[in-house]
Amino acid sequence: MKDGAAPSKRYALFGGTFDPIHEGHLRLAREFARRLCLDRVVLMPTYVPPHKMKESLAPAEDRLAMCRLATAGDPLFTVSDLEIRRGGASFTADTLAALHEQEPEVAWYLITGADMFLTLGTWNRFDEIARLAVLCAAPRDGVGMPELLACAETLESRGARCAVEDIPVLPVSSTQLRQRLSGGEAGDSAADGLLPETVAAYIAAHKLYTGKGTMKTMQTDEQFIEIIRGRLTEKRFHHSLAVAEQAAHLASLYGADAKKARTAGILHDILKDEKPAALLQILHDFGIILDNVEAVTPNLWHAIAGAAFIERVLHVEDAEIVTAVRYHTTGRAGMSPLEKTLFVADFTSADRKYDDVQEMRRLAEVGSAPAMEYALNYTIRDLAGRGLAIHPDAVHAYNELVAARLKEKTL
Ligand SMILES: [Fe+2]
Ligand SMILES: [Fe+2]
Repeated sequence: MKDGAAPSKRYALFGGTFDPIHEGHLRLAREFARRLCLDRVVLMPTYVPPHKMKESLAPAEDRLAMCRLATAGDPLFTVSDLEIRRGGASFTADTLAALHEQEPEVAWYLITGADMFLTLGTWNRFDEIARLAVLCAAPRDGVGMPELLACAETLESRGARCAVEDIPVLPVSSTQLRQRLSGGEAGDSAADGLLPETVAAYIAAHKLYTGKGTMKTMQTDEQFIEIIRGRLTEKRFHHSLAVAEQAAHLASLYGADAKKARTAGILHDILKDEKPAALLQILHDFGIILDNVEAVTPNLWHAIAGAAFIERVLHVEDAEIVTAVRYHTTGRAGMSPLEKTLFVADFTSADRKYDDVQEMRRLAEVGSAPAMEYALNYTIRDLAGRGLAIHPDAVHAYNELVAARLKEKTL
């Protein structure tokens, strides 16, 4: 192993889904630390793209919490939410570069799984990874020392520094554990030394990996509120609750279901605080293709991605709620009472402050049609005034309302 100016500290990055983190991970990290004199191991739970999130996978917050619990009180470990916060696919080169920037005086190591180590040479910006960290691996699952050492030789010929260590691996995998846990054996797994006790307790308390689908249990408004609390800024969180209140109120006037209206209100802006790049990543992960107006209107992305997110990740099965979220920014022709309710509620919630808000609130009490027409008229003029594109769905919604009004007048 070649070393440069011998930095004073040695830290390792250990990434993975940690779903859940188990004793196999911890022992491997501790043994690497002992052998390579590491001062710290940074556990980095990876972001899991929504479309890869099966029901058996725990949400990112839970995976993070379990990592923190598993390593609490052990000064060797820190837990980083960098990749989860970043969202979307993270390249190891970017993560290492970010860590390097935070701790420039540190010599970095990268702990990889044996199978990952064999493919490292093909990773995005391998040269950068090799420059930023010593590449570490230990045998497991049919990948033995000879194979790893041969691979290390190839990587070293490309300038990498490698540390292949013959560490005895605890025969446990997250997949096996999840299967076991789906049979309700969290306590047993802890007793067998496979899971830290705190993690087993957390799994039991949060009913993770129950096999019924972690996400499926998150179906009450209280749970949805906790989810948006974690995803939104304070201001947007309060806006969402205000929209939920207003939607529940308007539902009775517009002939919609008040309970569904409240849920739609809570969830409507769930992805509104994601960065445009993250939203594009989510849309891409879901296989959603934007039309040409959507492609140039980032304001619409949170509604399109949000609807897909609540349907596929939160398992909101009610199609009416999903479409209400989907069309809450543009509206569309032929809207359901629930869609209209959410659309108007978003314009008239108690937190809203704009010049015409009093008039909008008055019209909202009169009926969905005059309120929607007023809101669409306002939006279309505003967009055109700012030189922005107007989505055809909004135009169709507007025309439908105007046509109905004119028809009524002429009859
Ligand atoms: Fe919105
Ligand atoms: Fe909103």
